[in-house]
Amino acid sequence: MITYSSLLNDDKLSYIRMMTNTKFMLYTSKIAGLGSYVPENIVTNDELSKRMDTNDKWITERTGIKERRHIKDRAEGETPVASMGVKAAKIALERAQIDKNDIDLIVFATLSPDYYFPGSGVIVQDLLDIKTVPALDIRNQCSGFVYGLSVADQFIKTGMYKNVLLIGSENHSGGLDMTTRGRGVSVLFGDGAGAAVLTRSKDPQKGILSTHLHSQGKHALELSLKGPSTNHWVPEIIAENPQEDIPYYPYMNGQFVFKNAIRRFSEVIEEGLSANKLSKEDIDLFIPHQANLRIAEYIQKKFALSDDQVYNNIQKYGNTTAASIPIALTEAWERDKVHEGDHVVLAAFGSGFTWASAVIRW
Ligand code: ACO
Repeated sequence: MITYSSLLNDDKLSYIRMMTNTKFMLYTSKIAGLGSYVPENIVTNDELSKRMDTNDKWITERTGIKERRHIKDRAEGETPVASMGVKAAKIALERAQIDKNDIDLIVFATLSPDYYFPGSGVIVQDLLDIKTVPALDIRNQCSGFVYGLSVADQFIKTGMYKNVLLIGSENHSGGLDMTTRGRGVSVLFGDGAGAAVLTRSKDPQKGILSTHLHSQGKHALELSLKGPSTNHWVPEIIAENPQEDIPYYPYMNGQFVFKNAIRRFSEVIEEGLSANKLSKEDIDLFIPHQANLRIAEYIQKKFALSDDQVYNNIQKYGNTTAASIPIALTEAWERDKVHEGDHVVLAAFGSGFTWASAVIRW
């Protein structure tokens, strides 16, 4: 008789792969609760135009954004990224009706952590005052929430954890160049957090059906913040760079990012649909990462989706990076746009480049 321990290492790997393949998996994961939090302080396009050479017309036409939220005077706490995440998490936990002490894993997605290290996940563990569960920080920028969803899904599917708290949270306003020099980037981004509580489900017909993740590091610097880092430390940066070219503000090659975004969004949505033998007509709700309304509209047109099939709220919050999908998903759920049995498709593209999609049957 062949037993697991008698298998060679390569065969063990195949065995594990076989057992975690959708056909054989023991569990599925589902989103049991959603929550979001944005700072109260609204910053309109007109307000930005008082601080830099920009205007409402340019921002609206190019991006669809009318306003965004900025943390004011660190009112969201001394560790605002973790604190905003906790506010969103508490709502998600309450809606999931899962006690915080039953969380087995925290997954935290951000590009703007409170500290260089440690990551913000451990701060969430402390602020929530829960057991010493693992806290995993992931850094996949605008794709962070979908990457995190995939990580949470795998841990639940393999049976290792039952309940996972997934947070996407960003404090962009703390690190943007709010002068005319930075206008091509700074007008786009806003602060906020979204959270999802994922839990084990024994119904294979529902929950996270599949996730699809990609990266292409050759374009890493096309959308990046080089320093401070071990490779670009502050004294070195100041010594080596003229005042107008400071690499500790984000850089974006906007048109290059735009072209790649529409290509990769399309590919990764197709990939998710085909993996589940679904067609675009089966999509009940598509939530794109809120990078630019023009990108979302391009994708909507390409897939011939009606306005009812797509949810956007970039107009109110700007691009909140890892928080954008959970904020939009929470808002869509609150507005009764997500129903049991619906196919919900999430897709993201961002710095890395990274891109990802998730197909969920609610
Ligand atoms: N206000 C007024 N004028 C501006 C502003 C501003 N805020 N910003 C730039 N301009 C000017 C530029 O200086 C330029 O002027 P010039 O023609 O005299 O040189 C002109 O407007 C056009 O600038 P472009 O950068 O070519 O404008 P574009 O149409 O490409 O729009 C944008 C810029 C909105 C950034 C767009 O390229 C875009 O959305 N890119 C993709 C963003 C994205 O998807 N990011 C991924 C996620 S983010 C993440 O992962 C962190």
